[in-house]
Amino acid sequence: MIIGSNIIFIGNLPSTNTYAGQLIRTGNIQEGTIIHTNYQSAGRGQVGNSWESEDGKNLLMSIILNPATINPADQFIISMAVSLGICDFLNRYTDGCSIKWPNDIYVKNDKIAGILIENTIIGDKLEYCVAGIGLNLNQQKFMSNAPNPVSLKLITGSEYDPEKCLSQLSADLDLRYKQVISEEFAQIKMDYTLKLFRLNNWFNFRDQEAVFVGKIVSVADNGRLKVERKSGSVKEYYFKEIEYIL
Ligand code: BTN
Repeated sequence: MIIGSNIIFIGNLPSTNTYAGQLIRTGNIQEGTIIHTNYQSAGRGQVGNSWESEDGKNLLMSIILNPATINPADQFIISMAVSLGICDFLNRYTDGCSIKWPNDIYVKNDKIAGILIENTIIGDKLEYCVAGIGLNLNQQKFMSNAPNPVSLKLITGSEYDPEKCLSQLSADLDLRYKQVISEEFAQIKMDYTLKLFRLNNWFNFRDQEAVFVGKIVSVADNGRLKVERKSGSVKEYYFKEIEYIL
């Protein structure tokens, strides 16, 4: 086991990702270390957003990885593997799980988990990767202006034991990370593509130019989303260059 070989629990923290970054700077941290907490006073989301999570209700964790063999150009493979590990975990309890590119985890049309990956690249090597995960288990009311949060409890009506879920999720993430280490990139990419939210169907999107009707067809190796137009042309987008109209 790599992911979960060392588990650090701290009752409350500003942010598990920030704490993981501090541990990395002290040196000598074991690959696969998980830092988890019950409450974050400054939980961070993508693009400077905050991450809301009620005390003790959900999973808040960061994993320290040391993917020395991964070329920085291929770093999106880690994001795909983490997204898939979360879907593998959710499949135990619910159906309808998908990945809203690049790495929001959805159940049907609502967001149940978010991922914040922070990489340290030194020279041409991916030295460290901190994969932060916020997964909503038992929270029933969300106060922030996030458009469509949901939790497992809201979906199934049952209560979930965070400790048990942490252990199941780490095992699922560990299997996916082993696929990364053994360079099963084609398998990861295929599994990820098949899980994409709104794959292969026509929906409205917005890019820098306009609202348009497009169809997600796949993801490029560098992580860009490939979207086809009604004209048949296919354009690739980086994160934040395209918006889903939900
Ligand atoms: C998103 O915006 O969707 C990403 C959210 C990531 C939240 C998790 S919670 C644990 C870890 N620590 C943080 O401060 N953020 C990530």
